Amino acid sequence: MDRRRIIIDCDPGVDDAVMLLFAGAARDALDIVGITTVAGNVSAALTARNACIVRALAAREDIPVYAGCTQPLQRTPVEAGHFHGESGLGDLPITAPRHGPEARHAVDLIVETLLAAAPGSVTLVATGPLTNVATALAREPAIRRGLREIAIMGGARSEGGNITASAEYNIHADPDAAQAVFGSGCTVVAFGLDATHQVRATPARVDAVRAVGSRAALAAVELLEFSNALPANGPREQGAPLHDPCPIAWLLRPEAFKFRPCHVDVETRSTLTLGHTAVEFRAAPQRPQNVLWAVSADGDAVFGLLTATLARDAAR
Ligand code: RIB
Ligand code: CA
Repeated sequence: MDRRRIIIDCDPGVDDAVMLLFAGAARDALDIVGITTVAGNVSAALTARNACIVRALAAREDIPVYAGCTQPLQRTPVEAGHFHGESGLGDLPITAPRHGPEARHAVDLIVETLLAAAPGSVTLVATGPLTNVATALAREPAIRRGLREIAIMGGARSEGGNITASAEYNIHADPDAAQAVFGSGCTVVAFGLDATHQVRATPARVDAVRAVGSRAALAAVELLEFSNALPANGPREQGAPLHDPCPIAWLLRPEAFKFRPCHVDVETRSTLTLGHTAVEFRAAPQRPQNVLWAVSADGDAVFGLLTATLARDAAR
């Protein structure tokens, strides 16, 4: 099977870290050109460091990490340490990674990779604020040619918000960047809270990951259990929602999700609803439907895939 060529842009972050362990284990299916990091859950310096720590836990130090934008396009940074811990990696023991990020900036990596790529050959997976992605598109609109799609974790329609009543964190953290990406004309595959809230880290699912027993699986368990212990994530037996692995699960098993085509605009002015995603399913000439909005997710399939992928990699 041809491997999907991807760039992963993220803000590790506990669920970003689980996503990286998942993607790193999917060696046979994913050709990860690089991991780019952005300020979001924690500072840009910490998200870059954390990506280096997690790639080592995944035994994937072959994948380069590139540090990116340190603050949103226009807004002041809004971090989410209350969901990810001071380090950004929950309770994971933190030791300085053997190898740090590359000298090249994340936006340079994204632009140079996509300009050199065959048409429609690269998927950009983004699981943090879209600052790097929007900056790359603004600097070099021609990169759209090399993109197959942009698969993001972000937004909310039927589920309401998780950082405010109206907005999901990634979009709220940089609404101007999000508006630029949704309005770029690129195909955007959006995994908002409407879908990710259907993917819960129940105790039984966490136990199945634990049974894999590898260093990567046990790190994933520690991260999942950190999230499950947070009161904000609801009762432990229900399990915390697992957001960022969803785009990776979709790449590996698209049928685990259902989508509706739509047009998305982002609130970039109101303080009350800043970062709200206005998801419009009704087609109209002035509203190009360039977004596929995930309306449902099969939580058993996503966790089954995560567990099987980690187990297969552990058995290599
Ligand atoms: O709303 C969930 C998103 O915000 C996830 O990407 C999580 O890592 C945080 O960044
Ligand atoms: Ca994230």
